[in-house]
This record gives sequence, C-alpha cells and structure tokens, in this order.
Amino acid sequence: MTTLIRARTLSFLRAPLAMDDSGAYRYESDGALLVADGIILASGSYSTVREHAPADVIEIDHRPHLVVPGFIDTHAHFPQMQVIGSYAANLLEWLNTYTFPEECRFVESAHAQRIAGFFYDEMIRHGTTTAVAYCSVHKTSADAYFGEALKRNMRMVGGKVMMDRNAPQGLLDTPEMGYDETRAVIEEWHGKGRNHVAITPRFAITSTPEQMSAAQTLAREFPDLHIQTHLSENRDEIDFTCSLFPEADDYTDIYASYSLLGPKSLFGHCIHLSERERDVMSETGSIAVHCPTSNLFLGSGLFPLKELMRREKPVRVSVATDVGGGTSYSMLKTMDEAYKIQQLLGERLNPFDSYYHMTLGNAEALSLSDRIGTLDAGTDADLIVLNMAATPAMAVKAEVVNSLAEELFLLQTLGDDRAIVETYVAGIASKGSLQS
Ligand code: GUN
Ligand code: ZN
Repeated sequence: MTTLIRARTLSFLRAPLAMDDSGAYRYESDGALLVADGIILASGSYSTVREHAPADVIEIDHRPHLVVPGFIDTHAHFPQMQVIGSYAANLLEWLNTYTFPEECRFVESAHAQRIAGFFYDEMIRHGTTTAVAYCSVHKTSADAYFGEALKRNMRMVGGKVMMDRNAPQGLLDTPEMGYDETRAVIEEWHGKGRNHVAITPRFAITSTPEQMSAAQTLAREFPDLHIQTHLSENRDEIDFTCSLFPEADDYTDIYASYSLLGPKSLFGHCIHLSERERDVMSETGSIAVHCPTSNLFLGSGLFPLKELMRREKPVRVSVATDVGGGTSYSMLKTMDEAYKIQQLLGERLNPFDSYYHMTLGNAEALSLSDRIGTLDAGTDADLIVLNMAATPAMAVKAEVVNSLAEELFLLQTLGDDRAIVETYVAGIASKGSLQS
C-alpha cells in the first residue's frame, strides 16, 4: 500500500545558526510525503510529489496541521513509570527510597511486559517514535522492552542495566552475569526488527571495577553498539563516585579509564563537568544528554547547553526526558523546560533550535540520521502531526500566531500529548488506535 500524506511539513538539514537561519530547515506550506513499506519514498511540495505518485495512491490530508519527523528521546528509564512524581530531596535519596525498590519488581516477566506496553503507548501518545531506554538489571525487563518494540515495529535503543553494588540485593548482578546477560540480550535482540542494544553500566556508583572491566570488554567486542550511563548529575553523587575510584582524575576519567568514551557513548546529565572533562568529552565525540525536567525536579542543576555547544572544543549534546526522574513523557514539555533553564543561564534557545534537537539533532547524536530524524526520501517513515490549536488555551493563542517560529514556540510552551494529532510508526498511523 502506498500512501500520500499531505500537510505543511518541516524538517531540518543541519543545526540552526540563529533564529533567522532559514537555510537550516526545509518548510513546505503545502507539502507531501509518499510512503510505502515503512519508508519515505519522496517528500517535497504536494504538487511535485503528487505528480510522481501512483494513480491509485491513498491520500491522507492533515492540513492545516504540521508534519515533522517523530520525536527522539535519548534517555529514559522504562521501569520507572511508577516512580514518576516521587517526593525526594535529591538524586541519591530518590534512587534509594523509590527507584531501586520499584525496579526490583522487574524480575517478574508479567510485570515487565505490562509496563513495557504502557511505556510504548505513552511514547506514541506523545509523538516519540524512537527512545533510548535503560531497562532494569533483569534480563526479563530487556526481553519485555525489545519484544514490545518488535511487535510495534519501532526503532528503539535500550539495554539491560549492569549493576553489582550499592543497591538492594534484588537489583544486583555480578561482573560475570552482567557480561553474560548483556551478551545474551545482544545476541537475541540487536538488529532484530528495528532494535538496537546499548551496553548499559548504570553508573560508576553501582558498578565495581570488575564490572566496569566487563563493560569495557563488551564495548571492545561490539564496537558498533551504543553505550549509555550517567555522569556528573549531582554534587553528592560526584563526591561518592570519586571516593570509590580514588585513582581517577575526576568522574569522566573513571569512564575513560575503561575506554567507555566515544561517538556512540551517551552520558546522562553532565551538569557539573570541569573544563578538563568537557575537553575530554569533546575530543572523544561523546554525547552529553540534557534531561531538563529531571534536573529541575531532582534539583540537580542547570545544564549549560549553549555553552557546551559553542566552546572552542564543542561538546556534542542531545535532549531527553529521563522519565521517571523526568516528569513528562513529552519532548515538547522537555524543550519547554530546556528553554527555561537557558533563560536562567542568560542564554537564548530559539524555537528552531528546539525542533532541531528533538529531531535531527537527537538522530545525529545517536548516529542514526541516515534512518530517522528527517523527512528525507529513503529514511524510515516515523512522522508526527502537530496541531497548534489542540486545546482551548492553545486555540485562542493560535489566533494571533503569525509565523512558523511563533507556531513552534506555542506548541512547545502550551503543547503536550494533546497536540499530537497522529504518530506514524514506519508509515502506520499508531496513535488513533491506542486505548485512551
Ligand atoms: N543515576 C543512576 N541511576 C539513575 C536513574 O535511574 N535516574 C537518574 N536521574 N539518575 C541516575
Ligand atoms: Zn537516567
């Protein structure tokens, strides 16, 4: 079946240099996408794409709404759906009081499968078509996560967490188990459907040096895989971590000493990095993952997004929800909070910057921009339809919107899942069929 999706369309070609950098994106006021077998066959103006479409093509008209590539979330924890909104003073109290006990439940396959189903429903509801998630320490959780992604044909990245100390017994593996089970997850799931397995030592606090070595071995054996962990989120966390690895220069040096830095390595948070650590992140092409709603909720600090990007040695960045330290599944809400953090730091984050980050920017951070994050012909047909007048409050504001930038900013500031009219996963409309 070939479909022609008609709407206004927006996608990015590169990072915008300024608010008026119209060369950074492609906008069609009457655009179209030709889609078949989960792939975008053609995109451009409606008249051009229509001309080359088969006569019997099925046409779906989303005008006056705006179609953009599906949002990408580069850091989330699927076992934390029932942790969101847990009242705690800071990261370590939050982890020990709520998060670790809750994750223990994922040893049960039925529980893991139930929550995985809810997780993907929320992703689709909020217009996120690719996410990078931590599972729990249990292989059952990774099986549930990837099994559900396969059923829905979603492009997902994730990993069985490796953790062998400083957590409850029910949440610990060993260096050998961490290695063996991660290998088993890779062999079973990596490349199956659209799944990507990531090597996932939770953070240096919960991995012994022996387990960090096991992660290093996996990274050497599977050099194409993503690696994800946490780095420099909270002052007490940093002090505790450095006390566990006294021979390291700083927190980043711990991961560097196990060869875990590189262009496919995603480091959640990175709020308090020194200049030396920033240089090392830059030199290795590692990615600092900004999780604004989480950083505000846990009081972790203000991430210097713009400062990291414009350094002489720029640090690659991405944006993410960090559910359930993060408080929303919505990438729109995430960028709303990212904007406010930059405001507090005296920086400007314009609406084009935000939409670049949620789409192409995050795809580039994952080295997946040949598949997702654009509307280019030949890439996956993961698309969303946005309505800037989705609620009464949005509709009344929309009456005075005069430009694309204003529309994007309205969507980011007042929008949430209600602004997502439809989510196409590999060309299939998937939001309308969700149970509400
Ligand atoms: N550091 C280690 N584990 C976690 C987690 O689950 N959430 C956050 N925000 N930080 C972490
Ligand atoms: Zn996290």
